[in-house]
Amino acid sequence: MPACAVIGGQWGDEGKGKIVDYLAQKAHAVVRYAGGGNAGHSVENGAGKFVLRTVPCGIFSPKTELNIIGCGTVPNIEVVVTELKALEDKGIDFRSLRIDIAAHLVIPWHIVEDNLQEERRGNDKIGTTGNGIPPCYADKVKLIGLRAGDLLDFPGFKKKFLRTYREKKVLFKKIYKRTHALKDPDTIINELEGQLEYLGRKFGSLDNLICDTPPLLWEALDKGQNVLLEGAQGFLLDIDHGTYPYVTSSCTGVASAVQGSGVPVSLITERIGVVKAYMTRVGAGDFRTQMTLGEEKKIRELAQEYGTVTGRPRRCGWFDTEYFKRAARMNDLTSCAITRLDILDDFPLLGVGVRDGKDGIRIERIQGWGPSQKVMGCKTWEDLPQSARDYCERIACGVPIKIVSIGPKRDQTIVLR
Ligand code: GTP
Ligand code: IMP
Ligand code: MG
Repeated sequence: MPACAVIGGQWGDEGKGKIVDYLAQKAHAVVRYAGGGNAGHSVENGAGKFVLRTVPCGIFSPKTELNIIGCGTVPNIEVVVTELKALEDKGIDFRSLRIDIAAHLVIPWHIVEDNLQEERRGNDKIGTTGNGIPPCYADKVKLIGLRAGDLLDFPGFKKKFLRTYREKKVLFKKIYKRTHALKDPDTIINELEGQLEYLGRKFGSLDNLICDTPPLLWEALDKGQNVLLEGAQGFLLDIDHGTYPYVTSSCTGVASAVQGSGVPVSLITERIGVVKAYMTRVGAGDFRTQMTLGEEKKIRELAQEYGTVTGRPRRCGWFDTEYFKRAARMNDLTSCAITRLDILDDFPLLGVGVRDGKDGIRIERIQGWGPSQKVMGCKTWEDLPQSARDYCERIACGVPIKIVSIGPKRDQTIVLR
């Protein structure tokens, strides 16, 4: 495996965090290639329970010498520092972290703008996570973004910062009729200086953290070392291929793993789609396999389907095979990882979304394996009840199954290939 991309095959929260933490045990480098603090990757391992928003999930693996926040991401320095302090509290060594110089920064005005924009949409709100993601990516494309590399020349950064600050202030006043929402520039700069001082201290110097990362990856790949490309969100939230406008503002699939890391496309020889055994969605937008109210309530409580970062209840539905076939085709998935199969132990009757006519979808009901049989506690593929194996094969739609996950912990992972 020279480079392997791990992407979300649904609407995010598929359990990419757990899968990347597992696979990172054999990876020299792990790269987050898109998104920012909107993600919430949960990891449970020997070191404890963690939620990572921007830091790659390879941070726990002693073998992983590089954990890169890639050029396609939009880190918020305040969020990064908070994450690192939480890791520090648990004694995790995070000196393998690097931030690419070209990554665009989420600045407080992006968060204000995101929230004002949502407020203005009223009933048509997207239900963003409120982390400033759409305005930050928009400013990147408008060529007015501030990048991580700008922080290495702080006087220069301040100049650009003040120029954009003034523009944003006019925008908030004229369009949104709000001026108080944004902190004054001195406060923002002072807070940022405090955060950079912490980072400079932890990494020896800021240049050790913020650097040009693609050459580091090429060097590793030239030596035959493994590189893992960690996706965030899911393919149905992709800005081009998702359910626009109810999407995130980045590309989430394998193409984005190339663009957002700097790893050449031909070296990404393994492409794993992570999918839940059912589906969830937070925020607004179409959900054609949504469960009945009773089923949804049951699964939400049982599986604690609430946003990792925002705490919002996730909408729950049955596995949509048509959407997955599309994601598999478009990303040329070489395998898939099915997570949360254990949750279905408590559902005697399951549903699967199958094609109905040209564009339609209907829920086909099938007998489950539970509660008389359970996948929880199984160690191998052969241990799984026959009907659970049949179910996995069915939702995988011909994509080879690499992993079946039956719990949040590392040892609750069945590896098939
Ligand atoms: P995003 O980047 O935000 O899309 O997140 P993610 O794909 O990393 O998923 P997230 O951590 O938000 O949600 C998955 C949840 O399921 C977490 O609470 C995990 O600990 C948990 N989890 C992962 N795999 C399994 C599994 O096989 N069974 C159970 N019961 N829980 C799991
Ligand atoms: P944004 O990425 O904050 O702009 O949110 C846009 C849409 O993507 C909303 O529907 C969010 O709920 C969804 N979204 C963004 N990040 C995640 C995630 O990590 N998991 C699940 N949904 C997400
Ligand atoms: Mg999440």
